[in-house]
Amino acid sequence: MAGVDRRIPIQTLLATAEPGNPVTVTGWVKTSRFSKNVSFLHLYDGSGPKTVQVVLSKETGLEMQSELGQGTSVKVVGAWVESRGGKQAVEIKADTVEVVGAGNPTEYPIQKKRTSFEFLRTIAHLRPRTNTFQSVFRVRNALAWQIHSYFQERGFLWIHTPIITASDAEGAGEMFRVQVGDDKEGFFGKEAFLTVSGQLAVENFAQAFTDVYTFGPTFRAENSNTARHAAEFWMIEPEIAFGDLDDVMALAEDFIRVVATKTIEQCRDDFDFFDLRIEKDVSKNVLAAVEKPFARITHDEAQDLLVASGRKFEHKVGRGEALQTEHERYLAEEHFKGPVFVTDYPREQKAFYMRVNDDERTVAATDLLVPRIGEILGGSQREERPDVLDEQLKRFDLPEAPYWWYRDLRRFGTTPHGGFGLGFERMLMWLTGMQNIRDVIPFPRAPGQADF
Ligand code: 4AD
Ligand code: MG
Repeated sequence: MAGVDRRIPIQTLLATAEPGNPVTVTGWVKTSRFSKNVSFLHLYDGSGPKTVQVVLSKETGLEMQSELGQGTSVKVVGAWVESRGGKQAVEIKADTVEVVGAGNPTEYPIQKKRTSFEFLRTIAHLRPRTNTFQSVFRVRNALAWQIHSYFQERGFLWIHTPIITASDAEGAGEMFRVQVGDDKEGFFGKEAFLTVSGQLAVENFAQAFTDVYTFGPTFRAENSNTARHAAEFWMIEPEIAFGDLDDVMALAEDFIRVVATKTIEQCRDDFDFFDLRIEKDVSKNVLAAVEKPFARITHDEAQDLLVASGRKFEHKVGRGEALQTEHERYLAEEHFKGPVFVTDYPREQKAFYMRVNDDERTVAATDLLVPRIGEILGGSQREERPDVLDEQLKRFDLPEAPYWWYRDLRRFGTTPHGGFGLGFERMLMWLTGMQNIRDVIPFPRAPGQADF
């Protein structure tokens, strides 16, 4: 146990400290209660969802009552003792309480009655102090950690693909332009953009290191103001050489299963909160969903199922039509009641780099659909044949020049290869039950929204 001068994280204190020792904690007042004989503070420091109870002597309580409102930052030195109250086993009996920073509780914007998520987005600098966002950002950290662990334990190399790029990785023209002043082509001598995906860049490294991944921010200027789209979001993109679409799906399934299970395990207390307050039993349902093998159907079969469902959808269904979120959610939520891979999409619906199937009508693509979210990841086997890749570029009306290096990969030791991209925030939404992507990212960027 740390000495009196060294602060101990509250979570560590609650989990491991033996009563009877001196202790120092620092943190913020969540609640305080003052009475004639004895007073209480509940402190948090972000290390876990549980607060620690601090018992103040009669004198300290009377003297400091006006200073110890919600939001005040404090340093408490005292003894870690068995509690007499029923709610907690152990508590701090304070010797000294030092106010580090005044909280101004009457002006503090986080009041009990005004804590809708919409309101909290307007004070994104303060919302990390609320119970929900404390749990969200601990889980976000744990998920990132588990993702890296998954790949690192399996020999995948983490490649830092560039943020600024000259090529449109998805060929969809949804890029933010990077420009200095009015000079469109000055700095780089050509137009440059924020990347929409690290995939094309990371493919180069798969053709040298076999198993690689990128994990970083990506940017999309699509004007879809939905609860599932952000203009800036993080993506995880593994890429494997000497592999086909089945290998990509096997990797995706194992990855989702392991990472979901371990993240929930790592943040058990936070998931108790989500299960109770955000979406009933969300973590239990996720664990049950990843336990069984994921369903697999082709795009044609998916469309047939939608037609046969007799449902009234807003968007058209039937072979050759596109899967919209309402369809994806019907399939995952109601038909399969769990994750489902849809494969073999019509060629013109997907990106130019996807491998053309023998039927020449579809590509070796897959989207993984999950309940509540719809598409959580998208992947494919890549077109490794130089002539077919060039034909695809033509079909999609894309110029060859910016892709010269991508085309080179197909000339020098090409391999069947593929990978997928997982939307990091969508995975977080699925795990936690949070319903808006703006509430699982520290400072959300969406059309008309770039505050803080
Ligand atoms: O399906 P997408 O566009 O696929 C790619 O970018 C490929 N290059 C991936 C690959 O094969 N390496 O995007 C991948 C995932 C989607 O399934 C979705 O979860 C997420 O990224 N995503 C978004 N998340 C939040 N906001 C947006 N605007 C998103 N667009 C895609
Ligand atoms: Mg996609």
